[in-house]
Amino acid sequence: MSRLLNKVALITGAARGMGTSHAQRFVREGAKVVITDLNEERGVALMNELGADNALFIKQDVSNVHSWACVVAQGVARFGPITILVNNAGVLGPVAQTVELSAEDYASVCAVNQHAVFYGMQAVIPSMLEAGIGSIVNISSIAGMAANYGFPSLAYVASKFAVRGMTKAAAIEYGPRNIRVNSVHPGFIQTPMMVEATDDQGGDALAQIPLGRIAKPEEVSNLVLFLASDEASYITGSEYLVDAGMLAQ
Ligand SMILES: NC(=O)c1ccc[n+]([C@@H]2O[C@H](COP(=O)([O-])OP(=O)(O)OC[C@H]3O[C@@H](n4cnc5c(N)ncnc54)[C@H](O)[C@@H]3O)[C@@H](O)[C@H]2O)c1
Repeated sequence: MSRLLNKVALITGAARGMGTSHAQRFVREGAKVVITDLNEERGVALMNELGADNALFIKQDVSNVHSWACVVAQGVARFGPITILVNNAGVLGPVAQTVELSAEDYASVCAVNQHAVFYGMQAVIPSMLEAGIGSIVNISSIAGMAANYGFPSLAYVASKFAVRGMTKAAAIEYGPRNIRVNSVHPGFIQTPMMVEATDDQGGDALAQIPLGRIAKPEEVSNLVLFLASDEASYITGSEYLVDAGMLAQ
């Protein structure tokens, strides 16, 4: 239980779903975590559960570029240089076909899922450069690999493809400085987002999954933990599916 011993990680969107699972797992592996989210009540509850020695919750809207400097400064002041970033916060956005999707809705999905990933990398990389090591895990989706699984709109697909591209660009740029950047592409994972999506769309997710079941968030945390840790020391610029074979079809 020490795969992240003495590491400091920043995890966005940690108040529920997969972000909560990543934070719990990281702390069990010895990390200190800076957890952020819009949802202050749940974020504070998670911080209390993890213990103030291990976790700091900061309320943040990741799509607000100005929020990042303060989050990083507070995190570094509390625990020291941040050397792991998990860009996890995300939204599905409205269910709409292209001609019905407003420009505002398109922009708001991209602001959270795409632009915030850029803001996060830009804000945290200086801390990693100072420490001489870093691992960034950007949470994309199977929607960042293929568009044929009934996603709410093309905005979600576009934003998740963008995450995959940015990941590779940053990996090439910062590889020489010992900062690794990878993307994770979950399939159907049992989280509040997933429940809301399947309710909205009435889709029968199970029929599309070769392993025949929806994943627990912990099954994604296993992969995120590995990529964040020094065990993945020769891995950068890559995308990792955790999709029960959906994209093998
Ligand atoms: N659940 C799935 O099946 C699935 C599949 C593929 C990819 N993903 C991706 O995984 C990530 C986590 O998804 P989840 O299923 O745990 O979602 P979730 O909705 O259960 O949790 C997302 C969290 O992000 C927070 N958040 C949303 N907008 C934010 C903002 N602007 N600033 C700060 N926090 C914000 C929410 O408050 C929430 O706590 C997302 O990027 C999502 O797109 C999820």
